[in-house]
Amino acid sequence: MILLDNICKTYTSGGTETHALRGVSLSISNGDYIAVMGPSGCGKSTLLNILGCMDSSTSGTYVFDDVAVHELSYKQLHIFRKKHISFVFQNFALLNRYTVFENVELPLIAQGIHSTERKKKVTNTLEELGIAELRDKLPIHISGGQQQRTAIARALVSDHELILADEPTGALDSNTSKEIMDVFDIINKHGKTIMVVTHDLTVAKHAKRLLRMEDGLFLI
Ligand SMILES: Nc1ncnc2c1ncn2[C@@H]1O[C@H](COP(=O)(O)OP(=O)(O)OP(=O)(O)O)[C@@H](O)[C@H]1O
Ligand SMILES: [Mg+2]
Repeated sequence: MILLDNICKTYTSGGTETHALRGVSLSISNGDYIAVMGPSGCGKSTLLNILGCMDSSTSGTYVFDDVAVHELSYKQLHIFRKKHISFVFQNFALLNRYTVFENVELPLIAQGIHSTERKKKVTNTLEELGIAELRDKLPIHISGGQQQRTAIARALVSDHELILADEPTGALDSNTSKEIMDVFDIINKHGKTIMVVTHDLTVAKHAKRLLRMEDGLFLI
């Protein structure tokens, strides 16, 4: 269970202040599947980054299960994220020097998991996402949809409870988008909590709840 209460985020750069979030409150239960839509600049990525412990709010409270996330230091936020949260990005964010298998294996290495266990987990996840046969390919030698599947595999392999996706289909054609969203649906059926930011209503319709943002606030 996640509770955001009156979250504000103000960026200050070059003497000007931008109020990216102006008092966002939200509760997310385990297994929820939320889509967030809204015009460019309304604060969607800012919200996702705060939820994902990539950034902290200027004010407000964020409670994740029994942890007061808003009270964590920068270092503690990093540790918390590594334990509980996975991200999927529009540009896949794969490392091009590494194979599909190695990309998916990276978070497990970071967590200090033993190699036998890593191989088992990565193999299972690649099979689950239908990309087992691509394991030794480099990202530049596979399609955009296959790259995004790899990125989703990397997000899933750690078995985190919260998956955050910022425009995960933004670089994909509509057929491939549908395939990727079908993957998200299956992940959610397996009990993962998902929040997806998207500009595409077809994508948003996969979610259980659609929230609209404008100017740093949710529209009711
Ligand atoms: N690091 C930053 N420093 C200063 N201002 C920022 C920073 N990041 C975002 N902003 C500003 O905060 C506001 C919200 O940005 P955000 O990236 O959350 O929007 P968004 O809804 O994700 O937009 P898009 O749909 O274009 O991705 C914008 O006005 C943006 O210019
Ligand atoms: Mg954004």
